[in-house]
Amino acid sequence: MTRNRHVDPPKQPIVPTPAREIEPTERVSEKAWQATLRPKNFDEYIGQHDLIENLRISVQAAKQNGWTLDHFLFAGPPGLGKTTLAHVIANELGVTLHVSSGPAIDHKGMLASLLTNLGEGDALFIDEIHRLAPVVEENLYPAMEDFRFDLFLGEGPHAKAVTMQLPRFTLLGATTRMGLLSAPLLDRFGFHWQLRYYEQADMEAIVKRSAALIGVGIDRDGATEIARRSRGTPRIANRLLRRVRDFAVVERDGNIDGDIAASSLDRLAVDHAGLDALDRAYLSVICERFDGGPVGI
Ligand code: ADE
Repeated sequence: MTRNRHVDPPKQPIVPTPAREIEPTERVSEKAWQATLRPKNFDEYIGQHDLIENLRISVQAAKQNGWTLDHFLFAGPPGLGKTTLAHVIANELGVTLHVSSGPAIDHKGMLASLLTNLGEGDALFIDEIHRLAPVVEENLYPAMEDFRFDLFLGEGPHAKAVTMQLPRFTLLGATTRMGLLSAPLLDRFGFHWQLRYYEQADMEAIVKRSAALIGVGIDRDGATEIARRSRGTPRIANRLLRRVRDFAVVERDGNIDGDIAASSLDRLAVDHAGLDALDRAYLSVICERFDGGPVGI
């Protein structure tokens, strides 16, 4: 068998980008940092191509006809862009996005308050929707189906049933545990989609885009190295980019190439597969003590 000889691609010049959305003196939390790098519309969104094309069609159909977009559910591991997609969809529709999560809506009154504060056509994003309390979930069904909310005023035999008409809205649900969603809730979504880990080429494009947004120069090798160690997850890539940027600023001229990316990630104990020390310890216990499993925490 003949093997192709590996030939390194020619080095590309590093072009620093002047665009800077975050001031260099600003200290931003990890969450704010990730939010700054979020794509704002379909054109800016890299990866998940099939999903984006499907969403483009649905959003355009809704806009052309003055329809309210159907309820959509996104499933997949953390960091793949479920929240980002909700923001992108709301931006594309030109509506306000209201954000909440399953555990935060811990009683019926909380759900009532969220729903009655929606404007006509608005989108409501519920993260970790599999963690909704059963009583909250049951009250969500008529809201999703008929834009209706049933309330009881007063208590005991004098309680009066009142039905509130809600504005038409789009529910955007997200879950990391599709299997935990009840069938009646799943049935009420017009569409659900399992997000996949991003391909290497898409990850590189995301790293380059994020670097440009923060005004850090990065060459192809630098982007490849960070992308390769990010486990197909944009949130991890953006976090590692920030750490590598620190090394590049302290030890180099602030620009990122393959060498500084590799050496900083080595020192951060993030290996070639993107595993850290704890991941490796966990895997070696599974391999050595439990003979490869099946076993889990
Ligand atoms: N930043 C995080 N995720 C992204 C994506 N999918 N496309 C572009 N930039 C991103």
